[in-house]
Amino acid sequence: TRKIIIAIDGFSSCGKSTMAKDLARAIGYIYIDSGAMYRAVTLYCIKNGLFTNGEINIPELELRIKDIHISFKLDEKTNLPQTYLNGENVEEEIRTMEVSSKVSRVSAIDFVREALVNQQQEMGKEKGIVMDGRDIGTTVFPESELKIFVTASPEIRALRRYDEMVAKGMEVKFEEILKNVKDRDYQDQNREVSPLKRAADAILLDNSLLTVDEQKDWLLQQFEKAT
Ligand code: C5P
Repeated sequence: TRKIIIAIDGFSSCGKSTMAKDLARAIGYIYIDSGAMYRAVTLYCIKNGLFTNGEINIPELELRIKDIHISFKLDEKTNLPQTYLNGENVEEEIRTMEVSSKVSRVSAIDFVREALVNQQQEMGKEKGIVMDGRDIGTTVFPESELKIFVTASPEIRALRRYDEMVAKGMEVKFEEILKNVKDRDYQDQNREVSPLKRAADAILLDNSLLTVDEQKDWLLQQFEKAT
């Protein structure tokens, strides 16, 4: 069968990446987490002192953006995708609350989006890819053959993220995560450059009440229909 591009967009913490990862594995496609790329740029800014009092030094970031190289590699043991920033595995570090609370500011910057969108389009050249994010179906791959837009209530999303972080041994407060989820919804939907929006031809999935397995089955059906 022909290879296609699958775009999965939606709100933060709605399980997009779990769905996308499972689907990619099941159909033998490459999975790309575009959010991890925005997180990696954010981590770079934190590590290199580009944030002062929560404000980002935009001119400095513009000078350095060409020196920020992001790539993905599968972990040999777990077979899970790992994010690399300038050759260093940052998979854990990009998931902290500090990065989560700053990433929406970084992802609103036009030249950051331009640089990352170019890289994402390059990664999709050969098709056979599942990419998740906010603007994949609208901006990165407007011609993609299968577009899904995922949503779930903020409380359910915060609870999922909370459980995930607690399971990893991180110390977090539910209220803080809920606030972060709502803040990011607002910022992602209201930014000027490619805001989070459902593409007209995206299939809507509210997964508030679905199990991971149910989502996987649903997604596989959509894939069968699209190919
Ligand atoms: O998907 P995840 O929650 O890890 O994404 C982190 C942040 O990166 C989002 O809140 C959003 O600000 C930004 N992002 C984006 N465009 C994408 C993917 C993520 O702006 N395609």
